[in-house]
Amino acid sequence: MRKASVVILMVMAFALAALLGTMAIAQDTKSGKVSDVIKIYEPLFGKHTKVAVEFTHKKHSVDHKVKCTECHHDYKNGKNVWKEGDKVAKCASCHKDPKKNDGKVLSLRNAFHKNCQSCHKEAKKGPTKCNECHPKKK
Ligand code: HEC
Ligand code: HEC
Ligand code: HEC
Ligand code: HEC
Repeated sequence: MRKASVVILMVMAFALAALLGTMAIAQDTKSGKVSDVIKIYEPLFGKHTKVAVEFTHKKHSVDHKVKCTECHHDYKNGKNVWKEGDKVAKCASCHKDPKKNDGKVLSLRNAFHKNCQSCHKEAKKGPTKCNECHPKKK
């Protein structure tokens, strides 16, 4: 009897640990929850040539102190009207072509590269080489 309840407790503890382990740690923002680390792997690209890019959302917005509007926008007459608290749409919902720019609206690939790399280049901080964001496949 005692032995059985110890086994049951152990099984329950194990199940709880497994459950907690699968829950991604999330950052609570005024615009909703977002994973601390986002694995960017956009279906729009179709057949990917690279593995997912690990983007540290929380580190960027909290530790690196990058403003939301450096990355999130909604343009009305050429002006970014997005503000903290507004919903965040996926980049791919507006940057709809994987490769080709459509006037001022960059392709998805260029949108990511321009956003991520330009800042790192200007700040002289953060990765700018391909394999620093796209580690080679194992
Ligand atoms: C350095 C760039 C960057 C900064 C700074 C940044 N974000 Fe993000 N954020 C992203 C990217 C990239 C995604 C993923 C977009 C996608 O999947 O298309 C994202 C996703 C999100 C999502 C999840 C949307 C969803 O539906 O899953 C929320 C919410 C969000 N950001 C809010 C914020 C807020 C609020 C701030 C400022 C406190 C902020 N972000 C700062 C780049 C950034
Ligand atoms: C609601 C639609 C929409 C969403 C969502 C969106 N974009 Fe854009 N983006 C645009 C439009 C439209 C332009 C062109 C603006 C202009 O110059 O008139 C643009 C311009 C840009 C530019 C060039 C100008 C600049 O701000 O540096 C970059 C880079 C960019 N987007 C990256 C991203 C990334 C990365 C995401 C996701 C985190 C994203 N965009 C989400 C619509 C969107
Ligand atoms: C407006 C500026 C800015 C933008 C936009 C930006 N970053 Fe960064 N990034 C930084 C800074 C600052 C650092 C910190 C570098 C340091 O302290 O060594 C950094 C660091 C990193 C690192 C190193 C690990 C870490 O978390 O410190 C990676 C990987 C990275 N960025 C990926 C991205 C990706 C992917 C995007 C686009 C979705 C992006 N960054 C957009 C400013 C930016
Ligand atoms: C600062 C980070 C960063 C750097 C540096 C960078 N990229 Fe990317 N790249 C991204 C992100 C984020 C995406 C979107 C990833 C996704 O959705 O799969 C992307 C997407 C791509 C894609 C389309 C998706 C795929 O898997 O086929 C290609 C191709 C690509 N990058 C090639 C390059 C090459 C070549 C270089 C160097 C000249 C480079 N990138 C440098 C962040 C970066």
